Amino acid sequence: MRKVLITGVTGFAGSHLVDYLLTRNDCEIHGIWRWRSRTENIEHLKPGQITLHECELRDATSTYDTIAKIKPDWIFHLAAQSFVPTSWVAPSESLQTNIMAQVNIFEAVRRLGLKTRIQLACSSEEYGMVFADEVPIKETNPLRPLSPYAVSKVAQDMLGYQYWMSWKVDSVRTRGFNHEGPRRGPVFVASDFAKQIADIEKGRKAPVLHVGNLDAKRDFTDVRDMVRAYVLALEKCEPGEVYNICRGQCWTIRETLDMLLAHTKTKIEVKQDPARLRPSDVQILLGDNSKFVKQTGWQPVIPFEQTLSDMLEYWRAR
Ligand code: GDD
Repeated sequence: MRKVLITGVTGFAGSHLVDYLLTRNDCEIHGIWRWRSRTENIEHLKPGQITLHECELRDATSTYDTIAKIKPDWIFHLAAQSFVPTSWVAPSESLQTNIMAQVNIFEAVRRLGLKTRIQLACSSEEYGMVFADEVPIKETNPLRPLSPYAVSKVAQDMLGYQYWMSWKVDSVRTRGFNHEGPRRGPVFVASDFAKQIADIEKGRKAPVLHVGNLDAKRDFTDVRDMVRAYVLALEKCEPGEVYNICRGQCWTIRETLDMLLAHTKTKIEVKQDPARLRPSDVQILLGDNSKFVKQTGWQPVIPFEQTLSDMLEYWRAR
């Protein structure tokens, strides 16, 4: 049985990755948590399905000791400060969390002399300022990050390259485009809108749905397709390489909102909230997935319409 360590196991993508790995029944799953971690995303798991270890990734000793204890064959590094607006409110915390966690994992693997393969959850946000003639975006596109979060992901991405070149620490850099689905944190756009609709339907909120920039475009994939891609990345991709993971189709946020609103009979007013606008928003993310598809044969199978409907049902049930 392959030993797999998932950082961010209590989070959105991490919990779906566990669900997927359990269906394969070919690995021993380890995850890390902190004493204040919220565990609701993994509460459906049965005792013994995963082993949790208390670990603070920003602490080199804690990270080293945990990796030394598990000696994982694979690490999926999903833990991060992942909300773009928070990175303007707390830039140094976002940079430290994302970059230092990465360094601590690499250093632990390197110093222990392990042959671990590491999947790095890099991001399409790294592309940032994308010009009209640059879509669909290839991995070779210039990186022009527009937020401290995006800068932190560029750093993680480049560390992956550098640790491979310098030390042969084996990582695959996945530049994930937006992914949505049940259990998505309520601050991210589709989850935020779906939760507002569910709250309005239950009478817990006035019938006004607050929004930010509706003109931005995003290439959305279902999280359940995304985590399958992460596994394929470690099974089939080249060490030190970088791959876009995306559907290759994008929607404006306005279209996303309209698709969600089509699922409710309640009359809802849509209102822009200036507090939801960003100092510099990424206007378009539309990716080219051909490098990853050629290497792995991956295809997304869940339609975006289904993802949105599942998210709305998730919030209604809660
Ligand atoms: N969150 C939010 N809330 N976003 C809104 C809103 C709103 O009310 N209204 C419009 N938007 C717009 C944002 O301005 C942005 O253009 C888009 O919706 C998506 O916002 P988010 O869902 O917050 O995601 P993101 O694109 O900034 O970042 C996500 O995707 C990245 C990959 O591209 C995150 O999951 C990142 O962690 C990830 O790396």
